[in-house]
Amino acid sequence: MGKYVYMDNSATTPVKQEVLDEMLPYFTEKYGNPSSIYTLGSQSRNAVEISREKVAKALNAKTNEIFFTAGGSEADNWALKGVAYANRKKGNHIITSKIEHHGILHTCEYLEKQGFRITYLDVDEYGIIDLKELEKTITDETILISIMFANNEIGTIQPIKEIGRIAKDKGIYFHTDAVQAVGHIKIDVDELNIDLLSLAAHKFYGPKGVGALYIRQGVKIDPLISGGAQERNRRAGTENVPGIVGMGKAIELAYENLDEKNDKLIRLRDRMINKIFDKIDHVRLNGHPTNRLPGNVNVCFEFIEGESLLLSLDMAGIAGSSGSACTSGTLEPSHVLLAIGLPHEIAHGSLRLSLGDFNTEEEVDYVVEKLIEIVARLRSMSPLYEKVKEVK
Ligand SMILES: Cc1ncc(COP(=O)(O)O)c(C=O)c1O
Repeated sequence: MGKYVYMDNSATTPVKQEVLDEMLPYFTEKYGNPSSIYTLGSQSRNAVEISREKVAKALNAKTNEIFFTAGGSEADNWALKGVAYANRKKGNHIITSKIEHHGILHTCEYLEKQGFRITYLDVDEYGIIDLKELEKTITDETILISIMFANNEIGTIQPIKEIGRIAKDKGIYFHTDAVQAVGHIKIDVDELNIDLLSLAAHKFYGPKGVGALYIRQGVKIDPLISGGAQERNRRAGTENVPGIVGMGKAIELAYENLDEKNDKLIRLRDRMINKIFDKIDHVRLNGHPTNRLPGNVNVCFEFIEGESLLLSLDMAGIAGSSGSACTSGTLEPSHVLLAIGLPHEIAHGSLRLSLGDFNTEEEVDYVVEKLIEIVARLRSMSPLYEKVKEVK
């Protein structure tokens, strides 16, 4: 294969070599079940506990507040269903937003069928919820507020501390889906008043299929998966030891020199956005201009179909995405872009390029160069664009 530029780091990231090196022995030599009492078992158990400490440290949480899961979706499902069922006597109302990941939205739809009432908050043109609106929707029946930390499509970061403060003042649990934020933004669960937080290792150079739910001590929550006594009786199933070990190493590495890495990402991100706006007309930046994930670029090219753009980029050896990883492949415009007020036809032409630790300035320039060519070619086939050009 020739030149290949991977710019879909919000979908997933490659496992870093140091992470893989730590994981490998747990597949072959150190394969004991953490529940077994002999040495091989306790070796695995210790490794799991060391990772728990690393995850806890990264969030300023206590080790007994970290519970390993099989990824972000499981953590989201557990937070919502677990809190909903355990607190049913107190109330049946949950507040979330219209731009959550489907891990939250589809779980909410499920809970609605079980008799819970869900409020889906609107967002502004940048994807930010209105705190006054949040306060107004709270009732005596509200048991949980679940608002994502950073959006997976447009990168917008929510006012998490303020949301946490509102929830705390009202005695309501606050969950945040921080799958896109952990490893990329400094997070202190105490400072931000967070009660539950979901994370997934594959978004910060760890392995896929492993994640965690942070549960503040004292939060009333039912288990999602019943069975053995693992995770202190709260999440059954033999632990994914190599995955958990990898996540521990990955989170440790992610927070080393974070400011430096983010400075570089912001520089690359802004270079890309500026060049696109310089060279291509009828473009729109989606998400907040500054209050966004350091590596997130999300733009709409008018008169273009996002899917055709992605295929052409793929042919040029460039991996990007339109909408979230889970929705690309369908022709429905993204619910996030519709929620920020984009009309259907414009939402269809969206492109997300998410930069990561391995991307370079040279790659940014290459992608923009290809984008200029591809956008011009695709627009030359659009009668609508030809008309707009004539009017100009
Ligand atoms: C914001 C957000 N939440 C949840 C998930 C689901 O995580 P996982 O794929 O690990 O289940 C993702 C994955 O893209 C995400 O971006």
